[in-house]
Amino acid sequence: MKTSSAYALFILCSYCSLAVCQQQILSPHLTLRNATLEDADDIATVMIAAFSPLRFWQYLYQFQEEVPHEHHRCVRLGVVQALDAPFSHVEVIEAPADSNLTVAAAAIWIQHNASYDGMRMPHVSTGCRHKDMNVTRALDYKHKFDAAKNKYLDEVFGSEQLYLTLLGTHPDYQLHGAGSRLLERGIEVGKTNNVNVTLIAQPTAEGFYVHNGFFSAKNISITSADEDESFRYNVMAYNFTSGGL
Ligand SMILES: *[C@@H]1O[C@H](CO)[C@@H](O)[C@H](O)[C@H]1NC(C)=O
Ligand SMILES: *[C@@H]1O[C@H](CO)[C@@H](O)[C@H](O)[C@H]1NC(C)=O
Ligand SMILES: *[C@@H]1O[C@H](CO)[C@@H](O)[C@H](O)[C@H]1NC(C)=O
Ligand SMILES: *[C@@H]1O[C@H](CO)[C@@H](O)[C@H](O)[C@H]1NC(C)=O
Ligand SMILES: *[C@@H]1O[C@H](CO)[C@@H](O)[C@H](O)[C@H]1NC(C)=O
Ligand SMILES: *[C@@H]1O[C@H](CO)[C@@H](O)[C@H](O)[C@H]1NC(C)=O
Ligand SMILES: *[C@@H]1O[C@H](CO)[C@@H](O)[C@H](O)[C@H]1NC(C)=O
Repeated sequence: MKTSSAYALFILCSYCSLAVCQQQILSPHLTLRNATLEDADDIATVMIAAFSPLRFWQYLYQFQEEVPHEHHRCVRLGVVQALDAPFSHVEVIEAPADSNLTVAAAAIWIQHNASYDGMRMPHVSTGCRHKDMNVTRALDYKHKFDAAKNKYLDEVFGSEQLYLTLLGTHPDYQLHGAGSRLLERGIEVGKTNNVNVTLIAQPTAEGFYVHNGFFSAKNISITSADEDESFRYNVMAYNFTSGGL
């Protein structure tokens, strides 16, 4: 397998546009910065809040509700791996000062190059046995997801890419521009490095990405291990010829 994204197992690029209440207003001057190790806990909290309502997450993390602490610990470990890896970087939007979180939204980017050979599976990483996850499903899903990513992203948009593995905003802070700001930042980096900026979106997020200048390259469908369910995704890339940022 030429490239793979083990992050796909626990954090898939998405913008959760589910109905939310009690939204809080972020400062109009959103503070974007690189994440540090101290943010890992809150990034995991943001991801779980944003993604756990989605069906693919419930399918993979079949036992998350039985072992919520283990779930948080494993997601956090994935974030720490992303913070440590030389080919990925993590950016955050700070939460308002009166929040009990430091982070309102986060994005994890992978800078591919020809020698990038993917991440290890999170369940084999030290310190996490993934009791929250159905490993049979996860392996099957990773295999199918990687094959689709290879075919419709890497073979089309080049071995050098800036790939958005994850974009999540805490439900309390959605729809205030945090996701767009994180995305804008990636587009700037892609432009500077002259690489395509790519992602694989949840259906709920398509409109958001189109609004931000991405076009749909392919719709893919990943079937469940028992073939009784399927998960649709939209493979997207930023359109650099549409007139810039
Ligand atoms: C953030 O990280 C990128 C590399 O991932 C680096 O180029 C940039 O200088 C960092 N920004 C700050 C403010 O540290
Ligand atoms: C943080 O605040 C939210 C309400 O905004 C609350 O639901 C949550 O339990 C709080 N978390 C902690 C760790 O205090
Ligand atoms: C390609 O990425 C790997 C890490 O995945 C890094 O070690 C290597 O230096 C990169 N090569 C180039 C030419 O950027
Ligand atoms: C794990 O997933 C597989 C495939 O969906 C399923 O057949 C199996 O029953 C699941 N394991 C448990 C313990 O539920
Ligand atoms: C971006 O992707 C297009 C295919 O849509 C490809 O022709 C082009 O070479 C890629 N750009 C770079 C900088 O790799
Ligand atoms: C993928 O599906 C969306 C509708 O959800 C559609 O707007 C888009 O054009 C499709 N993409 C392709 C490449 O057909
Ligand atoms: C990119 O944008 C240009 C200008 O708006 C448009 O002509 C072109 O069809 C777009 N490309 C894709 C692949 O959507």
